[in-house]
Amino acid sequence: MPKVRIAPSILSSDFAHLADEIAAVEQAGADLVHVDVMDGHFVPNLTIGPPIVEAIRKVTTLPLDVHLMMTNPDAFIREFAEAGATYLTVHVEACPHLHRTVQSIKEKGVQAGVTLNPATPLTSVEEILPDVDLLLIMSVNPGFGGQRFIVRVLDKIKKARAMIDRTGRSVLLEVDGGVKVDNAAAIVAAGADILVAGSAIFEAPGHDYRRVIAQLRAGGATDSGDNGKPTGHSKAAASSRKARR
Ligand code: DX5
Ligand code: ZN
Repeated sequence: MPKVRIAPSILSSDFAHLADEIAAVEQAGADLVHVDVMDGHFVPNLTIGPPIVEAIRKVTTLPLDVHLMMTNPDAFIREFAEAGATYLTVHVEACPHLHRTVQSIKEKGVQAGVTLNPATPLTSVEEILPDVDLLLIMSVNPGFGGQRFIVRVLDKIKKARAMIDRTGRSVLLEVDGGVKVDNAAAIVAAGADILVAGSAIFEAPGHDYRRVIAQLRAGGATDSGDNGKPTGHSKAAASSRKARR
């Protein structure tokens, strides 16, 4: 079975030391850097734009997995492509002309991803699947880090895996939201290729990113640490982060 890829979401990192945080996860074995772009409109939070992506591109050799949580991604595809995005993933809920949007991402030489909110049915991506490089299944409602994984999404991940396999193409299946050491095994068993994890990694006890990344990759099967479990520490950190951003 191919290696599970781990994509730390920098949303939960220390933005004042972003380059150091990215270097730390890269050294700790991360496979991609997940960048959450939020526009304060499609989701009730505001984060980062193309200049930050451009800055990140200069400090890591890892692929940049840019998740566009925005109402009008078409208006920014060129900027994010030029900033150095490796993957650009758009929400089906925000793209009335999804095929055109996907083509425009690919025309810029960027890998195209599509994603859907927990309540959006998989049928909404069925027709576009043969055209994309990545399908991202949201396992929380987008907008914030530190939320709880919606368990019912496991069934959706299984169905997405089957849908991808039917295309005969190597579309990557990524899962984002509430991914922790204690649910990674189930998510991988359901068919995920890439696990996005924000709070599980950046709020790891002792900042031991390497340990959590290894545990996530192993589907939670390695040693008996309690990293990623919903502790008082992570809940408190999550709510203070929500208040800040
Ligand atoms: C949520 C973002 C996620 C988020 C994941 O809207 O798309 O990438 O950072 O954070 P955790 O892993 O803490 O749920
Ligand atoms: Zn994300």
